Amino acid sequence: MIQFDILIVGAGGAGLYAALETSKRKGLSVAVLSKVYPTRSHTGAAQGGVNAALGNVAPDSPEKHAYDTVKGSDFLADQDAVELMCEMAPKIIREMEHMGLPFSRLKDGRIAQRPFGGASFPRTCYAADKTGHVMLQTLYEQCLKNGVKFLNEWFLLSVLHNGERVSGVVAMDLRTGEIHGIRAKAVILATGGHARVYWNRTSNALGNTGDGTAAVLRAGLPLKDMEFVQFHPTGLRRTGILVTEGARGEGGYLVNKEGERFMKRYAPEKMELAPRDMVSRAIETEIMEGRGFKDDEGNEFVYLDLRHLGKKKILERLPQIRELAIDFEGVDPIEEPIPVRPTAHYSMGGIDADKFGRTPIKGLYAAGECACISVHGANRLGGNSLLDIVVFGKLSGEDAVNYVSEVGFAPFDESEVKREEERIDSLFSADGKEKLSDLRGELSDVMSYGAGIFREEKKMKEALERVREIKERAKHLKVYDGERTFNTNLQQTLEFLNLVDIAEAIVLPAIERKESRGAHYRTDYPKRDDENFLKHSIIERGEDGELRLSWKPVVITKYQPEERKY
Ligand code: FUM
Repeated sequence: MIQFDILIVGAGGAGLYAALETSKRKGLSVAVLSKVYPTRSHTGAAQGGVNAALGNVAPDSPEKHAYDTVKGSDFLADQDAVELMCEMAPKIIREMEHMGLPFSRLKDGRIAQRPFGGASFPRTCYAADKTGHVMLQTLYEQCLKNGVKFLNEWFLLSVLHNGERVSGVVAMDLRTGEIHGIRAKAVILATGGHARVYWNRTSNALGNTGDGTAAVLRAGLPLKDMEFVQFHPTGLRRTGILVTEGARGEGGYLVNKEGERFMKRYAPEKMELAPRDMVSRAIETEIMEGRGFKDDEGNEFVYLDLRHLGKKKILERLPQIRELAIDFEGVDPIEEPIPVRPTAHYSMGGIDADKFGRTPIKGLYAAGECACISVHGANRLGGNSLLDIVVFGKLSGEDAVNYVSEVGFAPFDESEVKREEERIDSLFSADGKEKLSDLRGELSDVMSYGAGIFREEKKMKEALERVREIKERAKHLKVYDGERTFNTNLQQTLEFLNLVDIAEAIVLPAIERKESRGAHYRTDYPKRDDENFLKHSIIERGEDGELRLSWKPVVITKYQPEERKY
């Protein structure tokens, strides 16, 4: 059997940083297993930057960063974890600078920082509008330099544990279709987010299907705060492709049909740089109240106007945004405004983990977007995601190294490999009464209808019912391609089944959270209710297959909940 001291699943920023940490301890066997070739991981799609209180543009401090983050989270973030992340931010940025990450610079050579939503100061370090791309390349190069072993194009099927300790995973080698048990003393899940559950309108890569999160749910382990999904205010009109917040950070305006900078009505001080939940709701409100635009295809949108920034600044700071706008909208932002609308972007909820990435199962860690460590609470601030992945990738890697040096391997139950083989075989022999593309489209529509930017009890309950129906109908999905080599039909079916599990885990706590907080906005309960809901939701699947909801307290250190005003 394949065996490693530490297995890291996922090769985005969190997985690669964890791998780098583990490579510092000689003599350990470590591997990174990734569904895609590492440099295709979704970290590469992050554009605008990474937050750290360097104070290069204006005086700043980790405390102010922590306060902004907690306020942005609508006070649901665990403040000890936030403080740790913000404290570590300047050090980790310098660490990456020394690795050779090509940050944009001020004239005096220090790292440049731009304003981002919900931040009191320009705090976001960036590399033009390709920050995630260069971060991913830099970390991957460092991993290669340090001899990290990769299992590329392997698909995670299940996570194994005995109720106390992790024993490894079952995964499929996509190149051969073979299913393997992989034994490990520690497993670090860094499998990314799940916003592909909103398939028809998302900024997420095709592969962001919550594979690690769904595997953890199937393994009977807890997910936290799943009802919180972030909609980024500016996705391109037709595709939902991300237009970085950096565009507004550089001075871009949002404009409605009346030519008005409408954010003045919603966030008079911060305007376009209010937190994402507020800006997204503002855009949707403009559209609902008839002040948006509508094109001949029926797409509704507002404009993001960058023209006043001038050609030089756009070419220097936002070159990718210009290319995307030209390629996907036929609009050159130097000459014309960009049509935009909110797009499903980020999963605040995920695998319940502490500030070292530890889950309730010894040796099982989660870091990055698949984890809910809870540094983002009910609404993440832009630029805190690239920070979260490197900080908690590093910390979980460190903790795992210490853990595995004290323990042996836990017994590995080989029958679990057989179980996965049978699950996959059943997909080849199903009756095929349902079509994957139909179900995927329906799931996306149902989620946008019931668990989108504005939510209400009746719609959420309908959505839950529909998701459960889709889950039943999915039993008829057949994999028609009988080949085992790079079988994308099989992979997409497995990914869809993961998304269905995730969808149910989002809607159930959303119904029970009878308040509005951050990205969870309920028209039937428009106020935040700290008395009853200043707590994390926990979703677990019982042995009967049913999801169960419980609650867990929020860690408050020094920032007392107050009304969010921007
Ligand atoms: O808008 C952006 O560039 C996205 C950044 C983020 O999600 O942190």
